[in-house]
Amino acid sequence: MIKVAFYDTKEYDRPGFERYGAQHGMEFLFLETKLNEDTAALAKGCDAVCVFVNDTVNAAVIDRLYEEGVKLIALRSAGYNNVDVRAAFGKLHVVHVPAYSPYAVAEHAMALLLTSIRRIHKAYIRTREFNFSLNGLAGFDLHGKTVGVIGTGKIGRIFINICRGFGMNVIAYDLFPDRNSDIEYVPLDELFGKSDIISLHCPLTDETRHLISADAVEKMKKGVVIVNTSRGGLIDTDALLGGILRRKIGAACLDVYEEEADVFFEDRSGHIMNDEALARLISMPNVIITSHQAFLTEDALNNIAETTVGNILSYFENDGICDNELCYRCGNIERCRKERKERCF
Ligand code: NAI
Repeated sequence: MIKVAFYDTKEYDRPGFERYGAQHGMEFLFLETKLNEDTAALAKGCDAVCVFVNDTVNAAVIDRLYEEGVKLIALRSAGYNNVDVRAAFGKLHVVHVPAYSPYAVAEHAMALLLTSIRRIHKAYIRTREFNFSLNGLAGFDLHGKTVGVIGTGKIGRIFINICRGFGMNVIAYDLFPDRNSDIEYVPLDELFGKSDIISLHCPLTDETRHLISADAVEKMKKGVVIVNTSRGGLIDTDALLGGILRRKIGAACLDVYEEEADVFFEDRSGHIMNDEALARLISMPNVIITSHQAFLTEDALNNIAETTVGNILSYFENDGICDNELCYRCGNIERCRKERKERCF
């Protein structure tokens, strides 16, 4: 029987994994703690670990897991910026879920945007208190506005189609633009200068960290709305706060936050908030924050469980060959993963 240590378990994770695991004779050890150097030893005797976005999978953790006999790191997420794939090479294989519901994330981005610009978050609280005044609730039409989409992969494209449905003008930037598509690509600075709304859909890499910097904010239109459902590190929080305070940024819709790891996904309502930047953002009427929730639909949870169990099975029962392995052999994860027809190492 394949035994898997499942870190950072939430109640919504269990039903799908229990169902698919039982179907394939897989045993999950559900742990509430996150994976880090102190908790890696809990995986002793397990064949694999199953981790999420705020688990720490650095070189030290990888070495510890390797010593404990773990063979596979199964990410139940698409993004893998929290895994040192280079350090894992030659020791532990890494698999992820490349797509579970890009619709869930793209639709959440639009939900945040509409909530923000139509002040639904304000209206909801008012009418619950029988305050039917409309003062201060004026929004703006999305129709005819320009949205700049950074990252035109699976989620970015769906978001583009949603925006087109609203009659918006779409411009985009991607490091690897798809020249065969009907997407209008522009240089990043042009996107900053022309967009009424900017939505981030690229991965967090060394190159994209603090893509939204103080310099970038300077180049943006006054009143720009920034939507981030990708990774918190794409935005320099100080630059964002500065832009909002100077009224340069009109609104921010954030599903992710640079320092989310110790806060998001947990009930912190009985605690004093130590993160002053986060507290400041939450206090602002034009900032909406959800707690890395964009992926959270029943459809996505089901797909995540099914694909992750499939990834683990194909590693242990299919000569280790798994389409969803993140390979570092050629130094280019995407190209290698797509072209490779054999085990990574
Ligand atoms: P994808 O891999 O299909 O697309 C990413 C796109 O970003 C690609 O077109 C790629 O060429 C582009 N890109 C790479 N480096 C870039 C750079 N330096 N500048 C501009 N573009 C660059 O990924 P997908 O599935 O669309 O996901 C996008 C991101 O969404 C993920 O990396 C992840 O961080 C985030 N995500 C967030 C979730 C949430 O719950 N909030 C859930 C799932 C994903």
